[in-house]
Amino acid sequence: MEVRRVAVIGGGTMGSGIAQVFAQGERDVRLVDVSEEVLEAALGTIAGSVDRLIRKGTLEEGAREGLLARVRTSTHVEDAVGDADLVVEAVPERASLKFELFERLDRAAPAGSVLASNTSSISITSIAAHTSRPDRVIGMHFMNPVPVMRLVEVIRGLATSDETTRAVVTLAEGLGKTPVEVSDYPGFVSNRVLMPMINEAVFALMEGVADAESIDTVMMLGMNHPMGPLALADLIGLDTCLSILEVLHQGMGDDRYRPCPLLRKHVAAGWLGRKTGRGFHVYD
Ligand code: NAI
Repeated sequence: MEVRRVAVIGGGTMGSGIAQVFAQGERDVRLVDVSEEVLEAALGTIAGSVDRLIRKGTLEEGAREGLLARVRTSTHVEDAVGDADLVVEAVPERASLKFELFERLDRAAPAGSVLASNTSSISITSIAAHTSRPDRVIGMHFMNPVPVMRLVEVIRGLATSDETTRAVVTLAEGLGKTPVEVSDYPGFVSNRVLMPMINEAVFALMEGVADAESIDTVMMLGMNHPMGPLALADLIGLDTCLSILEVLHQGMGDDRYRPCPLLRKHVAAGWLGRKTGRGFHVYD
């Protein structure tokens, strides 16, 4: 399967990065969001990120203009996916929203195209069941920040075909990423291992074991993590972390995944991390 045209649905934290990486990989990209403002901000984010990569010497100055021109935006899902070879969905982590969107994508995208989800935890098998092509539905889980992080967790739903998996693995490699194939279980591998650590750090904060700065310092200097768990939660978005923990808790039926009440409190307050300027840390 050749992938020339890619539609990315959702222009937030992840969608803007995913669009950039495909444009860097010489693909034509349609970036879709319900909000014009988000799309404008996404183009600004992409331009800023491209400039940083040029300063670091990762990208050549001459690539800038063509790369940015390859990303076109739209607020109409149906228009944007009509000629797509691949659709990558990156809307908020709510199952009902993704199910409804995949029903629409299935109707509007070419029959032979692949529908991928960047979901952090929602079952690919159940997303695929909302389409007429479950063999062509797959998880393509990029990490944040997408242009920098090398991993793509490739998640096979129960019905995902070998052909679809091979195509997505080859595509990810061509983008300079390292794909790792995993089965469809709650949280896959990345978040099944990461989220309990973040949740435990929030419990430690809630119980007054140490302040946020100290908890992060222990994990950075003691465990050689490049970023502490609370700062990482702020980067991911506390609403996203809470949604993933809910999926793990429900999907595994095990109370060890219960979200910490302090995490719920932050989400209720709208302190969602970097994207709102405040989470467990405060940002300018
Ligand atoms: P976000 O909240 O930053 O962006 C989501 C965007 O989707 C928003 O701009 C929103 O306006 C848009 N949207 C909502 N409904 C839509 C619709 N029907 N059609 C088109 N656009 C729509 O969320 P973020 O952080 O980018 O997460 C997106 C997905 O990526 C989630 O499934 C999340 O679990 C996953 N993910 C997030 C990571 C992170 O570090 N934030 C890391 C890896 C995966």
